[in-house]
Amino acid sequence: VDRDARDRWSNVAHANRRLCSPVDEARLAAFLKELPVPPAPYTVDLGCGKAEALRRVVELHGGSGTGVDISARMLGDAFDGEWDIEFAQADAAMWRPERRPDVALCIGSAHIFGGAAGAAAALGALVAPGGIVVLGDGYWRAMPTAAELASFGMEPDELGDLTELVALVRRADLVPIAVQPSTDAEWDGYEWSLIRAVEVWAAANPDDPDGAEFLSRTRFMRDTYLEWRRAAFGFALVAALKPKA
Ligand SMILES: C[S@@+](CC[C@H](N)C(=O)[O-])C[C@H]1O[C@@H](n2cnc3c(N)ncnc32)[C@H](O)[C@@H]1O
Repeated sequence: VDRDARDRWSNVAHANRRLCSPVDEARLAAFLKELPVPPAPYTVDLGCGKAEALRRVVELHGGSGTGVDISARMLGDAFDGEWDIEFAQADAAMWRPERRPDVALCIGSAHIFGGAAGAAAALGALVAPGGIVVLGDGYWRAMPTAAELASFGMEPDELGDLTELVALVRRADLVPIAVQPSTDAEWDGYEWSLIRAVEVWAAANPDDPDGAEFLSRTRFMRDTYLEWRRAAFGFALVAALKPKA
């Protein structure tokens, strides 16, 4: 599947969501509110999607921010409003801020950095001493079979368990201060909102050239979610402090 078609599918599938990760907006806000963020922080969000997490940080803690995403479609669906937030359409792995951020977010986008370990290292290097990193990524709640993994195009070592997700943040010289695994309700809400959005879109656009491919991808995701991904896939927000010295 080419990158543009993947991006378009994602945009159609996330049509009814502000957050493009299996995280409830209210639970995200509660998680972000508790963080010991420096006053008037400058926050960056790498692979920001519609930048809902970034918007929340600025709403809750003030300051300003930059949302970075490679997708014009996703950035085009970002909020309108009176926030001191700018956007950069760029590869977040190559993008560099003009000043050191106090807060760096990467939620559901660690693949940009080759996975969670790479993302933790990149965000840790970017953020100012005394600042905060928030990484949201997958982990195994139960290990799938080799055949299940292969059918989904994944390698066994692509994710670890929750302990490993927190450990790799520590290995980036960051100090974990909050961990919030997504609940079954958050996962069900997320997966079925994607399925519903694509089914409704396909029914309304029967002649769209991407329709058959999008439906087949979505129905494969639905079936694998019910068969094994619901039990196997976890997702957690991990917040960590970058020590001052
Ligand atoms: C699963 S979404 C998560 C979006 C957002 N963080 C959220 O949780 O709502 C992943 C995002 O990463 C973006 N992305 C993929 N590759 C990227 C890259 N190399 N640089 C910047 N963004 C990228 C996609 O366009 C998509 O918006």
